[in-house]
Amino acid sequence: MAKKEKTIEALLKEKRTFSPSKKFTEKAHVNSDAVYRRAKRNPEKFWEDFAKELDWFKKWRKVLSWKPPHAKWFTGGKINVSYNCLDRHLSSERKNKAAIIWESESGESVVLTYWDLYREVNRFANVLKGLGVKKGDVVTIYLPMVPELAIAMLACARIGAPHSIVFGGFSAESLSGRINDSKSKVLITSDGGYRRGGIVPLKKNADDALKRSKSVKKMVVVKRVGSEAKVRMKKGRDYWWHDLMENSHAYCEPERMDSEDMLFILYTSGTTGKPKGIVHTTGGYLVGAYATTKWVFDLKEEDTYWCTADIGWVTGHSYIIYGPLANGATSLMYEGAPDYPDIGRFWAIVEKYAVTIFYTAPTAIRAFMRWGEEHPQKYDLTSLRLLGSVGEPINPEAWIWYHTHIGGKKCPIVDTWWQTETGSILISALPGITKLKPGSATLPFPTIEADIVDEDGKTIKEGAGYLVIKSPWPSMLRTIYGDPERYVEQYWSRFPGMYFTGDGAKRDKDGYLWVLGRVDDVMNVAGHRLSTMEVESALVDHPSVVESAVVGRTDQLKGQAIVAFTTLKKDLKTSAKLVGDLRQHVAKKIGAIARPDEIIFTAELPKTRSGKIMRRLLRNIAEGSVLGDTTTLADPGVVKELKEKYEDKE
Ligand code: WTA
Repeated sequence: MAKKEKTIEALLKEKRTFSPSKKFTEKAHVNSDAVYRRAKRNPEKFWEDFAKELDWFKKWRKVLSWKPPHAKWFTGGKINVSYNCLDRHLSSERKNKAAIIWESESGESVVLTYWDLYREVNRFANVLKGLGVKKGDVVTIYLPMVPELAIAMLACARIGAPHSIVFGGFSAESLSGRINDSKSKVLITSDGGYRRGGIVPLKKNADDALKRSKSVKKMVVVKRVGSEAKVRMKKGRDYWWHDLMENSHAYCEPERMDSEDMLFILYTSGTTGKPKGIVHTTGGYLVGAYATTKWVFDLKEEDTYWCTADIGWVTGHSYIIYGPLANGATSLMYEGAPDYPDIGRFWAIVEKYAVTIFYTAPTAIRAFMRWGEEHPQKYDLTSLRLLGSVGEPINPEAWIWYHTHIGGKKCPIVDTWWQTETGSILISALPGITKLKPGSATLPFPTIEADIVDEDGKTIKEGAGYLVIKSPWPSMLRTIYGDPERYVEQYWSRFPGMYFTGDGAKRDKDGYLWVLGRVDDVMNVAGHRLSTMEVESALVDHPSVVESAVVGRTDQLKGQAIVAFTTLKKDLKTSAKLVGDLRQHVAKKIGAIARPDEIIFTAELPKTRSGKIMRRLLRNIAEGSVLGDTTTLADPGVVKELKEKYEDKE
């Protein structure tokens, strides 16, 4: 049996359940399942009640306008996200509360209170204005996990300039592609970033990117590394962050944004080679991020909340910055890797700040598990009261380990399913009321009509199928930037009238949902989304390669590993050096996260008679499972040869 099937089987056999303690329930924001019934009776009112907890310059006229597949939320409302994350907390005791606690890789810390952050954001908003940025202009941000990243994004929100954040691990070429698609005129980066003690040359990558991205006229550079980074500043184009901030005024009027004005674009991998710019707007997104942070993480005034994601991904947008700050919480932001300088790093941070809520990815949990519980055991983790998981299915063993060794058997675990496109969590336990089953994301958030359907879009009451969402929610993506048709095609055409997630899932007899993973050509490698096509394009760009087909294979640690079946130009010989070169080439084109784990050379790729690469077959070979039906193959011998080669390697 294939490894993947085994994992899924183990998942579905899991029978243990965990109910919240009485003590937890008593204090929880949500302590009765009446919320589901109330939400069902009047979904719009449910969201409107959350919207009322935020500060609006002008109230909305209509909660929802739904012309499928286009939704507008809180139309007519005027609101500013930075105002809601900052200004509105200043009139209470939150003014001097820590908004962001930043911990560097090497152990320094910076605490920004709400008042500090407010001042910094205002000053940087004025800097942006001084550089000519106006409402509606897209600003690209390519920064490591430093406080300036939070400041920059909130400053953009303040003046109504949508940000497009590009993960610092992406290459110059990926950065340039995203700049060109969004046509942004300003880029914010740093001289470098620290990763496991080494320096990531962000400014150098940015310089390379700008050779191909002519829309950018101004670059702001944060000094993080200093002289070691050896950057060159281009006169008239490049400015140091600290120089610009020096004389910048500490107040900038927040822009009165329409609820449906764009807040940000975030590029994510789809099923084609080109990442899609997911568009999120202002009012609905904020309401979604605010409400889910409050309820799913049961966030309270006194919590110290830590989400370990990078802000370059959607999890960091919604659950390090916008959701927690809109709630007036203390959000911890960590610069570095979980295993640097040693594998106790995360637990040292939990102890240092007495973190109460901890949110991470299964891939990290599996790594901790492999390293052994003796490491967390060296630290005091008793401050923790709630744990979260996101990014990929969590296998029951990892769930139990997390519960036992990190949560001390007392913390509920919220396994949160969502996507860049959904903007906020759509499937998750509500920790005060939900009986947990390890490996299941449990139930849809109130009002969310998640369903499992078959090929024809018919509901499957109990069993596996495609995961769809049948009604709009406030933080849903509004479109794909510059490609409205692809929005309709990609998400709303596979099953008419339903949002197709791209995931497969199963529903059990209690109605619990078990997300099984992607059913399209998107891979999930260590919680990072990558398309097979992106990696293929990078490989065929190498002068030695004629053709390549990439598939994801089950990996114990990373969830999925990248396997690239590759055909070389005639007469070229395979060698370990060539494998290394090809892997490096992909890292250079996309980023290190896309580097194939395995490259398998083959004289030809298996294709159907109509010339389509048979990915299912390749996946089966990569998983080491038996071959399926090969009669539609042009030359079945190819597959046999491939399979033998694969087995030889083991
Ligand atoms: C997967 C990350 C199972 C899923 C927030 C989805 C999950 C993709 C879970 C989105 C979970 C995310 N259980 N699978 N709790 N959370 N996924 O856009 O395949 O980077 O479609 O957003 O991650 O990845 P994205």
